[in-house]
Amino acid sequence: MSESTVPTTPADQPVVNETTVSSTREYPAEPVSFMRRGTRLQGRRQDAWDAHADSYVVDVPRVVTDTSVHADYVFDAAATFGRDADLVVEIGSGLGEAIVHMAELRPERNYLAVEVYRPGLASTMARIAQRGLTNVRVVEANAAEVLETMLPDDAMSELWLNFPDPWHKKRHNKRRLVRDSFTPLVARTLRSGGLWRLSTDWSGYAEQMREVLDRTPQFENVHSGERVGADSPLTQARQSGVDREVSDEIDTVGGWAPRFEGRVVTSFENKAHVAGRIIFDLTYRRR
Ligand SMILES: C[S@@+](CC[C@H](N)C(=O)[O-])C[C@H]1O[C@@H](n2cnc3c(N)ncnc32)[C@H](O)[C@@H]1O
Repeated sequence: MSESTVPTTPADQPVVNETTVSSTREYPAEPVSFMRRGTRLQGRRQDAWDAHADSYVVDVPRVVTDTSVHADYVFDAAATFGRDADLVVEIGSGLGEAIVHMAELRPERNYLAVEVYRPGLASTMARIAQRGLTNVRVVEANAAEVLETMLPDDAMSELWLNFPDPWHKKRHNKRRLVRDSFTPLVARTLRSGGLWRLSTDWSGYAEQMREVLDRTPQFENVHSGERVGADSPLTQARQSGVDREVSDEIDTVGGWAPRFEGRVVTSFENKAHVAGRIIFDLTYRRR
């Protein structure tokens, strides 16, 4: 499909059939990081969707599922927001607590919330509308596809991945978003000097994030070598046994970031605090 015929509205969306799929990409190319929970909206969330979807939802053409993104579709942030500004993207924005808070705090930037959980997007839109913000849009889509083809090169000035689904069981680890096949997608879309901020409450995933990003040449740890030994949240998690296994192994690598200013405690993170879990933050810079 040439650029001029890229579908932009549901009516223009490509017909989904086997030919369309095979002419675009194998679907899904990789195990996805989510299990689709309910898409049905009720009550206030349905009202929010009906009232605000036209204003805030980026309506992407699909390929197979309603979280897919047609490979020919490219997001035009300047046209969507009506201005050129730094773009902050949050993957797995949940109820929108963090991104909407920051959008209000730093109105000079544009924000894109990427989420597959439709009720979460409805809540996000209710929050946007309540604050009268014009600098946030939401997209119901698999983040891997958003980064693979929907965003242009160097589109993002900052990327957040807060508390991605941990996929605790070893046999499910391949579903984790932060893995070697994912970092090139971020490297393409995060501009040089841009920050990738990550957080998790699961020590095994925190270690995986650090390992994967440390071996990716396009990224450097902004807090390399910080918080080692007894100061390391990893040492603390191991010694406390909060993640089921007790170990006296000391983390000598460190590299853990402080919580970044303006990152609010979401309802998901609050549950982790109540359960006594340890929070890990990491910040990497695109070289
Ligand atoms: C544990 S929740 C955390 C929500 C939020 N970041 C917070 O800190 O409260 C993880 C979220 O990521 C979303 N998610 C998982 N995989 C995704 C993907 N590939 N694309 C978009 N969203 C995804 C899930 O639907 C879920 O809402």
